[in-house]
Amino acid sequence: MDTDIKSKRGGWGSNFGFLMASIGSAVGLGNIWGFPYKMGKSGGAVFLLFYLVLVVLVGVTVMLGELALGRRSGKSGVSTYRALSKKYTWLGYAGVLCGFCIMCFYFVLGGIVLRYAVGYFLSLFGGSTFAWSGQGTDFFGYFLTDTKSMILFFVLYILLNIIVVSGGVHGGIEKFCNIGMPALFCLLVFIIAYIACQPGAAEGYKFMFRPDFSVFSDPNVGFGRVLKNAAGQMFFSLSIGLGVMITYGSYLGKQEHLQRNAFIVCGADTLIAVMAGLMIIPAVFAFSGGDPDTLQAGPALMFITIPKVFASMGLGTVVGVLFFVLVLFAAVTSSIALTESAVSTFEDELGWDRKKATVLVGVIMVALGTLSSLGYGPLAGVTVIGMQFLDFFDFLTNSVMMPIAAIATCLLVSRVIGVDK
Ligand code: PFF
Repeated sequence: MDTDIKSKRGGWGSNFGFLMASIGSAVGLGNIWGFPYKMGKSGGAVFLLFYLVLVVLVGVTVMLGELALGRRSGKSGVSTYRALSKKYTWLGYAGVLCGFCIMCFYFVLGGIVLRYAVGYFLSLFGGSTFAWSGQGTDFFGYFLTDTKSMILFFVLYILLNIIVVSGGVHGGIEKFCNIGMPALFCLLVFIIAYIACQPGAAEGYKFMFRPDFSVFSDPNVGFGRVLKNAAGQMFFSLSIGLGVMITYGSYLGKQEHLQRNAFIVCGADTLIAVMAGLMIIPAVFAFSGGDPDTLQAGPALMFITIPKVFASMGLGTVVGVLFFVLVLFAAVTSSIALTESAVSTFEDELGWDRKKATVLVGVIMVALGTLSSLGYGPLAGVTVIGMQFLDFFDFLTNSVMMPIAAIATCLLVSRVIGVDK
């Protein structure tokens, strides 16, 4: 979204344009893929409770801080921190590094979503690429270990991003957001309503909304893990702690209401996350023979449970195409924010032109992301602190880098600049 706007550094066309761009960056795989599985693994309703409190107390504050810093300086992350205090320039670079680490797994997941979208589309024509009915689990397991396809779709997903970012995204993506985001919302409502009518779904609602504090004494969950997972998810989902919202704030007019904007973006993001939970968690109970252990399928949940739901529907293939295409666009509107922030840093800091910067970012993404992409195939035995590459990058960014950067940003605002300003 930055591309064209940046060239006429005047700012967003309207506050609505800013909101669409910011919500587009926030709503992505973190909501639809990440939130339900983290909730499933971290105590259901207790996780939701922690998450909501953290969004209100921390998320809105950090979002507001980043927007305010950006609007005040009129510059992107690294330059903003440098202008405010030389001592905090590292924060800008840490944000860019964190963005790269997110790309390492986000683009691999984007590739998987792309594969599912293409697969559903082909099966509309009776293609034999999929034998979906009842075999969602098998297909996902097979696909993860199919090295060539994993790499192919991962690279295709990167290309998709590069085309959008290098060509300018103001018209295309912003226009798409205006239609795609409401369309995704409506489709979620439809799927949620369908699942609500399935026997067994009620157990899912209990899991989501009836807190069971005994999870604190469960050795697999525990207070610390719920807090860590909820906080990590909150930073990731709101896209805060790596300077992206500073850049977006820098294009915001002085007359716009910062607090209201921060509330709207955080509220919309949280709503979509809870809706994704309402779609996937009751479906796990309804379609997995009431076996709550399926929730432990973790990151794979969306790729296993949702195909089962679609397989049980009359027009499941059509719904499948729509669903994965919309999720794909939600993912793209988030990942271009990441790509754009890296590209604009190379432009600003090294004086490179957009094309050169975009190609370099693409090469780095392919090199680093390949590790995650092969983590379930040829590199299955290789782990970092006991995690596959994809899970490791997920953990490193959500649970380590983003919280540290967010705390440092708050310190910068309170100690160096002063809250009054
Ligand atoms: N918030 C995005 C999601 O939930 O999928 C991920 C993300 C996008 C994180 C952009 C950070 C960012 F700068």
